[in-house]
Amino acid sequence: MNSPSHLPVHHTDTPEQHPTAPTKRHHSARYYAHRVKESLTTRVSKLICAIFLSLLLIIGIITFILWLSLRPHRPRFFIHDFTVTGLSLENGFESAQIVFNATARNSNLNIGIYYDAMSGSVYYKEQKIGSTPLLDSYYEGPKTTKVLTAALSGATLNIDRQRWMEISNERSKGVVVFRLEITSTIRFRISAWDSKRHVMHANCPVSVGSDGMILPSSKDLRCPVYFT
Ligand SMILES: *[C@@H]1O[C@H](CO)[C@@H](O)[C@H](O)[C@H]1NC(C)=O
Repeated sequence: MNSPSHLPVHHTDTPEQHPTAPTKRHHSARYYAHRVKESLTTRVSKLICAIFLSLLLIIGIITFILWLSLRPHRPRFFIHDFTVTGLSLENGFESAQIVFNATARNSNLNIGIYYDAMSGSVYYKEQKIGSTPLLDSYYEGPKTTKVLTAALSGATLNIDRQRWMEISNERSKGVVVFRLEITSTIRFRISAWDSKRHVMHANCPVSVGSDGMILPSSKDLRCPVYFT
């Protein structure tokens, strides 16, 4: 039992001086085995990390593409016609009529729009001079346009003598500016899923000439839409 008793001495004291000593090899083997094991675990964890990150990236890209293609666009409103009759008459307010034609376009490819009751109100200098229902709950399919026309008169039109004078005064300068506001609560339908309700307003400023007809500068304009 001579040599075994020497081994620990080499091992602990001067292993460098005996590079070929069995203890050194034993130590190195364990050392390298450890290192190999260690680098294997780092490689495996690096691989798992890489796979995980790639998965995250792929999921992110898919979500982004889905979001791009499913993102609902608000409906687009346009004002095409707006006529105030009797504008040249001094007592025109008694028989006045406002007729308008606007459209609501659903420009989404796959998304439908539900409108709850829709109404149109006409403002003159930020005062409401008339209001009328336009639609009574309506589903507008993708890529379709709904024509919204109405005539306001009598009970739905609220113009008194004084306001009519104001309007007539402005008319004598050549242009009268009104504002048509279309309001509705809307929901988006994405395949079988319905979004929550949003209160939507479309604001169409309209300039009318002295003949009571919409001016070309206001015709077919897109009306800004906002939600409240
Ligand atoms: C309203 O305007 C649209 C678009 O210009 C037109 O297609 C439609 O015929 C008009 N409707 C009425 C009743 O004037």
